[in-house]
Amino acid sequence: MKRVAILISGGGSNMVRLVEDMGRDHPGRPVLVLSNRPEAAGLARARALGVATFAVDHRAHPGRESFEAELDRVLTAARPDVICLAGFMRILTSGFVRRWEGRMLNIHPSLLPKFPGLDTHARALEAGEAEHGCTVHEVTPELDAGPIRGQARLKVRPGDTPDSLAARVLELEHRLYPAVLRRVLAGETAPLDLRAPA
Ligand code: GAR
Repeated sequence: MKRVAILISGGGSNMVRLVEDMGRDHPGRPVLVLSNRPEAAGLARARALGVATFAVDHRAHPGRESFEAELDRVLTAARPDVICLAGFMRILTSGFVRRWEGRMLNIHPSLLPKFPGLDTHARALEAGEAEHGCTVHEVTPELDAGPIRGQARLKVRPGDTPDSLAARVLELEHRLYPAVLRRVLAGETAPLDLRAPA
């Protein structure tokens, strides 16, 4: 069994999907859900699913280095084979990323390399994109730029708002991330390409 740690900052809906999927016939099991916000709603959701949780509050640390040293200590103790960032909203330094490189995945709400960073749905609409979606990629020191392991796409509808797009993309994220994690744990390297039903 591969050991999977999941990092969150908020509601954790992607984390819930990953944990639920690991409850079925699966090569991985969730060993830890970790948040940088002790009040993140996802921590209670993880505990309700029987998963160990921990919080490393970034606000309790004087800087990134000491925050990441604590994050690293907790993660090292959990001995994960794979770390899934799932709505984890802290930028990680290159030193931290290098320590876990090749073992850390992230889900991002755009079709990378388009729209790295924040406000992806509003930016996709402003740019007049016909298609939008989400990406699971390996985490490398450059933000949202690591090798792509899977994408899911949908057609932008006339009248879409950032909120309506975000809701449809989140549904796609919930399909994409569990599917990609299964493939990664099975050693499959070709990226997955999912499409929303029209
Ligand atoms: C998801 O849409 C995820 O793609 C996004 O945060 C949301 C978390 O939702 N992540 C990023 O924007 C990372 N830069 P969740 O907590 O319900 O999974």
